[in-house]
Amino acid sequence: MRPSRNTFWDRWRRFGATDECPRVRSAAVTATVGLLGWVEIRVRRYLPVAGQLAIRLYSTIAFMDRHEHWERVFATKGERDVSWFETVPEVSLRLMEAAGLTSETCVLDVGGGNSRLVDYLAARGLDCLAVLDISEAALRQAQGRLGATARIPTWIASDVTGDWSLKPMDIWHDRAVFHFLIDPGDRARYLIRLRDVLKRDGTAIIATFAPDGPETCTGLPVARYSPESLARELGETFALVESVPSVHVTPWGARQSFQYSRFARVH
Ligand SMILES: C[S@@+](CC[C@H](N)C(=O)[O-])C[C@H]1O[C@@H](n2cnc3c(N)ncnc32)[C@H](O)[C@@H]1O
Repeated sequence: MRPSRNTFWDRWRRFGATDECPRVRSAAVTATVGLLGWVEIRVRRYLPVAGQLAIRLYSTIAFMDRHEHWERVFATKGERDVSWFETVPEVSLRLMEAAGLTSETCVLDVGGGNSRLVDYLAARGLDCLAVLDISEAALRQAQGRLGATARIPTWIASDVTGDWSLKPMDIWHDRAVFHFLIDPGDRARYLIRLRDVLKRDGTAIIATFAPDGPETCTGLPVARYSPESLARELGETFALVESVPSVHVTPWGARQSFQYSRFARVH
């Protein structure tokens, strides 16, 4: 016969099978329940921390991947090989005029890439301009196109959700960048930057794919918005002033539904 291993659990089972020492047994049961409760509290307390760490890790990896992704896009494609190319950024300029654009206005183009918006703003006499983009290659292309005018804007090579700073601006313009932020943590960081940089009475103009727009761009998934759902994302700091539905025609003739929304910062 195999000798009893007499482990803790063997002894616990024998203990539970007798009717001896009921008071000791009930104390032991209470202690066990207490211990399990303590373990549960610890797990519940540290699970969110573990979750946060996982999200942080995911964001860091996504952050690095994003940079490489956009560098590759701009290194391998010409200006007219990308779906978002537009000769004249008409809707953006119209919304800026509606927000009271003058030559004194300070404008930041977030995720401006090699967009021609900055050319038009500089030609209109603005000298308080900034272009931020995750891709240095995109910024270099824009600088090359602008030539001597490239001295005017402040160029910021950064992820919009990363650590960067700028003096207060009157207009925050974003065409087709916010919709790439499908992680809620990224959107929260975007909004922190928006509130940090935009003046108290400033304007945010944000264009995204509309609900019937494409589901991906350059192979990346996007979140599509109506003006109302975008307003909900921005929260109470911003009031929706006007929105413009717009169908963008890509250089190869495909049609993409966008929505442009103009928000006033209200506090
Ligand atoms: C679809 S393109 C739009 C470019 C420009 N806004 C336009 O309308 O022509 C998206 C741009 O956002 C940049 N971008 C993507 N994710 C970004 C991020 N997290 N932070 C900053 N720029 C980003 C890309 O490098 C690219 O230039």
